[in-house]
Amino acid sequence: MGFLDKLFGDKKETKNMSNIKLAVIYYSSTGTNYQLAKWAEAGGKAVEAEVKVLKVPELAPQSAIDSNPAWKAHVEETKDVPEVTLNDLEWADAIIFSVPTRFGNMPAQMKQFIDTTGGLWFNGKLANKAVSAMSSASNAHGGQEATILSLYTSMHHWGAIIASPGYTDPVQFASGGNPYGVSVTVGQDGKMQEDVEAAAKYQARRTVQVAEWIKIGNQ
Ligand SMILES: Cc1cc2nc3c(=O)[nH]c(=O)nc-3n(C[C@H](O)[C@H](O)[C@H](O)COP(=O)(O)O)c2cc1C
Repeated sequence: MGFLDKLFGDKKETKNMSNIKLAVIYYSSTGTNYQLAKWAEAGGKAVEAEVKVLKVPELAPQSAIDSNPAWKAHVEETKDVPEVTLNDLEWADAIIFSVPTRFGNMPAQMKQFIDTTGGLWFNGKLANKAVSAMSSASNAHGGQEATILSLYTSMHHWGAIIASPGYTDPVQFASGGNPYGVSVTVGQDGKMQEDVEAAAKYQARRTVQVAEWIKIGNQ
């Protein structure tokens, strides 16, 4: 076995995982994390998982949204995306979060949603879900990793199983090599600077795969 084979682990052929339910839960002001969520959706569907893309409720005042044309346009573009509910969390075997950094943390919109999960947590309904997270920032080192880790801190409290991508696939190296989860830089023009589409799809497949391992092991 060569070095890279050892690094990437024992790969098995991707199977049909239609028994796994994946919720991709995101917050986005200007579309980047919505696009990451859509790629994760495609990755989950490629292995036949049942997938829902869900946004967390907006908290910002309409005047703030209206003052930023890109934000306003994105809100309009995604008006039909369903808002996440606590039922979606209970439904999901696997969850992928995608959020922009806000000073190295998750946005208040996502935190507010997580802060509504106390009842589910208290009843043991959040334990053993396979979870992972993705993030973006304006700078290459603007806080993406810290933002993903801020989500993982809460996931530890849920008792979720964090399915970070690590370096389990060569696609990781082509996308910037963030082992915590996909991260990307967004330029002033609103465009992503790195090509992370394949990595987002891979992260979804892996999170679904870990959910399946958990499900089988729990039977
Ligand atoms: C309040 C606020 C704080 C931010 N903090 C940072 C930061 O610390 N570092 C950084 O590189 N970008 C920062 N950004 C830029 C956002 O992360 C960037 O606009 C976002 O990743 C774009 O994602 P979206 O298109 O999904 O909204 C900040 C933006 C706002 C509004």
